[in-house]
Amino acid sequence: YQFLLLFYGALWGQWTFFWQYEKKLLQKIGLLGLSDKQPKSQSKSSKLQPARVCIAIFASGTGSNAARIMERLQNHPSARVALVVCNKPGAGVIGIAEKAGIPVLLIEKERFFKGDAYLSELEKAHIQWIVLAGFLWKVPARLVNAFPGHLINIHPALLPKFGGKGMYGQHVHAAVIAAGEKESGITIHYVNEHFDEGAPIFQAKCPVSPEDTPESLAAKIHQLEHRYFPEIVEKLVTGQDV
Ligand code: GRF
Repeated sequence: YQFLLLFYGALWGQWTFFWQYEKKLLQKIGLLGLSDKQPKSQSKSSKLQPARVCIAIFASGTGSNAARIMERLQNHPSARVALVVCNKPGAGVIGIAEKAGIPVLLIEKERFFKGDAYLSELEKAHIQWIVLAGFLWKVPARLVNAFPGHLINIHPALLPKFGGKGMYGQHVHAAVIAAGEKESGITIHYVNEHFDEGAPIFQAKCPVSPEDTPESLAAKIHQLEHRYFPEIVEKLVTGQDV
């Protein structure tokens, strides 16, 4: 019957309508993956999803933002940091994760960019959201496509200014000061395949004074990040308005 429906639907020029109908039916009985709106990494094991939304933090630096997010979600009823992904052995964030009892996945360039981008590990850990907090590698298309609308980053400036390749850490703050900007800030945004170009979610500003150095500006920016990033992450992953 299902095939006949498709066949006659197509004959009458209504393939799309009947295919949508069939797709829903096949999804219900488990013969087809779930709709694209959900992160693809969840599709196979959706029935086994844990009660709390699982987040992976990708970080390669000192991890002060990662630490704040972990604190915020510790004992949270509906979300938790389930994994820390890091590409730098010895990075501060590793110790922070271990202290908090959160597993760490150390990744290598070859597999990240030319292999499966560690999707199988993310799936095993039931990851539904990826939060970049000081992760300097570009995210490969494979990962971007596997987490549509569920992959975010924090940038230490007011995008679209002072973003893109090479714009990280002190380079950003030095460029802001050199440009004579009167204010800087943070941008939390969705991630696409291009550095710092995904749709913005949230911005907060701080003044830049003539006495500011890249270090003093970095300290102001970190304050903003610690104040807002955990809150925005919590809201996003629990489906609240930002
Ligand atoms: C932050 O400034 C963030 O904006 C940028 O990387 C830095 C990470 O800092 N993407 P930390 O390791 O969380 O202290």
